[in-house]
Amino acid sequence: MPVKFRHLSAAAFVAFAFAATVPAVAVEFKSALDDSPIDLDPIKGEEFTDAVKKFHETGENPYNGNAEEIAAGQKLYNANCQVCHKPDGSGGMGPALNDDMVVNPRANTDVGMFEIIHSGAAGAMRPFAKRGMTQDQMLKIIAFINTLKK
Ligand code: HEC
Repeated sequence: MPVKFRHLSAAAFVAFAFAATVPAVAVEFKSALDDSPIDLDPIKGEEFTDAVKKFHETGENPYNGNAEEIAAGQKLYNANCQVCHKPDGSGGMGPALNDDMVVNPRANTDVGMFEIIHSGAAGAMRPFAKRGMTQDQMLKIIAFINTLKK
C-alpha cells in the first residue's frame, strides 16, 4: 500500500515539524486575582533558561533539591521577599510561607506559587515580573521556599 504509507509519513512529518518549531506551553498559568491567563512573555533582556522552558511544559521546578540554586534563591528571597514574609518564611505583613498556605491555597504547588510571584496577589503582594525579576529567578526562590516547610 505505497499510497497510504506515503500519506502516513507526511502526516508524521508535519506533526514532527510542528512539535519541533512551536514551543510547548503545556501548563496553564492563571492569575491569583481573577484566574485570567498569565502573559508569560519574557521581560526585557530575559532569555528563558532550560529550567524555565521545562517548568512551562511540565509544571515541575527543576531547581527543587539543587543546593546551589537554592542558595541563589535564598539570596533573592532575602533581597525581595523577607521584608514581608520574614527570612524563615514565618510571616509578617505577608502570610507565612513555611506551612500550608491558606490565604491562596494555590501557593501549595510550585505552579501556584509561581503564578503569585509572577503576577501578584491581593494587597501588597505585587507582580514581580513587572519589577524586573526573571522567571528563572522565581524558580530559584520557589526552590528555596520549599526548603522552609516545617
Ligand atoms: C510588600 C510586602 C510583600 C513582599 C515584598 C512580598 N510579599 Fe508575598 N505576600 C504579601 C501579601 C500581603 C500576601 C497575601 C496576598 C493575598 O491576600 O492574597 C502575600 C502572599 C504571598 C504568597 C501566597 C501565600 C498565601 O498563603 O497566600 C506567596 C507564595 C508569596 N507571597 C511569596 C512571595 C515571594 C516569593 C516574594 C518575593 C519575591 C514576596 N512574596 C514578596 C506581601 C508581600
